[in-house]
Amino acid sequence: MPAPDAIAYVRAALPPAPARVLEIGAGDGALAQVLRGAGYDVTAIDPVGEGDVLPVPLLELAPSEPFDAAVAMTSLHHVEPLEASLCHLAERLLRPGARLVVDEYDVAALDERAARWWLDKVGKQDEDPAHFVAHMRDHIASVPRLREALAVHFDVSEPVPGAYLYRHKLGLEHRAEEERLIAAGEIPATGSRFIAIRR
Ligand SMILES: C[S@@+](CC[C@H](N)C(=O)[O-])C[C@H]1O[C@@H](n2cnc3c(N)ncnc32)[C@H](O)[C@@H]1O
Repeated sequence: MPAPDAIAYVRAALPPAPARVLEIGAGDGALAQVLRGAGYDVTAIDPVGEGDVLPVPLLELAPSEPFDAAVAMTSLHHVEPLEASLCHLAERLLRPGARLVVDEYDVAALDERAARWWLDKVGKQDEDPAHFVAHMRDHIASVPRLREALAVHFDVSEPVPGAYLYRHKLGLEHRAEEERLIAAGEIPATGSRFIAIRR
């Protein structure tokens, strides 16, 4: 289940229900279920989807009636090929003016201090934080790269930074500490939330 603040962010950013919403990279479909419960008509996709989550990557989703909005919860950074998938989303799946609600993990902001904190919390005290940062940057797209690719088709809002690491294999009980360290300037904010409006 996504963190309560993540659900609240998505619900506040979406147009009012009922609306047709595409969830990109829906994982186990938990957020889609919450949104259906709130009255949205949700199509959830994920290449490894099961049950209510259609097992297709974004680029292969066949166009139907255009969606009013889309949500990508910590998934855009995995989408490949990024530019072609976003072009498909904008040109064939969303209606003009539709919102894409993005909640991201920004590996460009991740540094060795944040990596050290997270590695210690998950019991990986022996792992080199510099190696971890390099590994993450090699494997997922950064928020600046996502925003640049989105800007071809969307008007992209300024990102709102925030805590993220507590959501990655930790839990809500670590959120306050992460936020305190961010506020004290001891670790960077690695969460990034922004909305892109399809032109
Ligand atoms: C970090 S998980 C997030 C899952 C879920 N949104 C959540 O918040 O728990 C990223 C998801 O993006 C999916 N994904 C990867 N490539 C994708 C693509 N091309 N189109 C749609 N989803 C994709 C992955 O399969 C994975 O389930």
